[in-house]
Amino acid sequence: PFTDKNEYSNEELYRPNFHFTPKKAWMNDPNGMFYYNGYYHLYFQHYPDSTVWGPMHWGHAISTDMVTWTEKPIAIYPDEKGYIFSGSAIVDLQNTSGFGSLKNPPIVAMFTYHDPIKEKANAPGIQSQGIAYSLDEGLTWTKYKNNPVIEFPSIKDFRDPKMIWDNIHKQWLMVLAAGDKTMFYASKNLKDWELLSDFGKNIGAHGGVWECPDFFPMLVEDSEEYKWVLLLSINPGGPNGGSATQYFVGDFDGKTFKLDESFSKDINQQKGLWIDYGRDNYAGVTWSNISETDGRKLFMGWMSNWDYANKVPTEKWRSSMTMARELKLIKEDNHYRITSHPVKELQNYVSKTIKKETLKIKDKKTVLIDKSLVDLSKLDIQFTLKNLKKDVYTFSFSNGSNNTISFGINKKENYFFIDRRKSGDLSFSDVFAKQISKAPFTEDFNEMNVRVIVDKTSIEVFYNDGKTVMTEIFFPEKPMETFNVTKENFEFTIENLTINQLNF
Ligand code: FRU
Repeated sequence: PFTDKNEYSNEELYRPNFHFTPKKAWMNDPNGMFYYNGYYHLYFQHYPDSTVWGPMHWGHAISTDMVTWTEKPIAIYPDEKGYIFSGSAIVDLQNTSGFGSLKNPPIVAMFTYHDPIKEKANAPGIQSQGIAYSLDEGLTWTKYKNNPVIEFPSIKDFRDPKMIWDNIHKQWLMVLAAGDKTMFYASKNLKDWELLSDFGKNIGAHGGVWECPDFFPMLVEDSEEYKWVLLLSINPGGPNGGSATQYFVGDFDGKTFKLDESFSKDINQQKGLWIDYGRDNYAGVTWSNISETDGRKLFMGWMSNWDYANKVPTEKWRSSMTMARELKLIKEDNHYRITSHPVKELQNYVSKTIKKETLKIKDKKTVLIDKSLVDLSKLDIQFTLKNLKKDVYTFSFSNGSNNTISFGINKKENYFFIDRRKSGDLSFSDVFAKQISKAPFTEDFNEMNVRVIVDKTSIEVFYNDGKTVMTEIFFPEKPMETFNVTKENFEFTIENLTINQLNF
């Protein structure tokens, strides 16, 4: 049936239009993101010699808007102490580390050294934390001569340090993942670190090892209240299998993190609360040094899953990042929730808009748009659904090769979903599309807004003002050609359908 399969080269078919992907070779977690002097910096786990995971480096890219990225030379190379695993970077404006000057403040990075020799020998101290500094805005880095700065030989999985300036308690604060918990450290100079406390044993989801934490205060929307938020990636054990990122909301007194009581009940009831319920948003963390006048919490994740990341069918590179997102903390009826929103900078790329104010959906299947009007591989679609009943609402992108990627709302069984079981090439992995991915409802509703960001090989769906998010990748045999809606029984209304063509 797929006679024209070879019409498209792999590069042309799969290289995203606007999601960051390395020019060549392997990429995983985003690392060391900070903002300085007009540029957003993104580093990433990178193995430049192959399209599978290997000795880790930090690759580097910069952007003025978190949408269009320019890849820079590799920033940090592995050395005799080990591979350079995930970590973070901050601008040391007061030069507390002494690595630079007040005039030229150093950027200081902390990463995990993973020692493959100790690993092979199963010796203690496989992972430790090292630091490095940059005096040229993150382009080149010098490793600190007294590395490692933090060791804990008895803990095998001891990694992914994320630093912030804790302006409430006036300290450098760092969180890292240590097996089945996180550990918090504080410092005055970014070199000497004191262990404060730990968190997480028997709390939240523990289906796999804890990785890539992030910890920061957030103002609750429309209030003066602030809470501390812990992001925590786990692999495996995600809500739809493999890797995923959960979050916790609570209070921090400068030493200890205590889960909020109502939030604690919520996560027990919901089996964890997740930044994203799709299969492809992992190891995401937030940017440092966003100016106070901006004030946004900006996040980006790795758009893949350890279940199949090393096998996805791209030839020159592997993996891309999610769209940069703004995180917000909301409180409704005493429930705290993180919501996610594509960064507003994406609006600057809209080249054409098609609007339909009210669409009554009566037929079982209705085509909402097709390729004669827009290129379906670079869209930002927004709409509101009204009169929702106990029915199944399915939105799908399809092509003439019988490939379909769909998402929607099952109001009979109370979940959101993405279904990529017929989305194209599935041959590379048994677990890539074994079943549909689901996100449970956290409340009932009969109307809902939806936003969808679509690229050639990814879909990011934001339901209900970003309260439930699902991100997944797919590999169609040719570009998608139509965007349809189907429903089973009842008539319903789509309002304010806005189809934004993005220009890349
Ligand atoms: C998460 C992770 C991190 C580690 C890095 C290694 O995906 O396993 O815990 O630092 O990848 O590349």
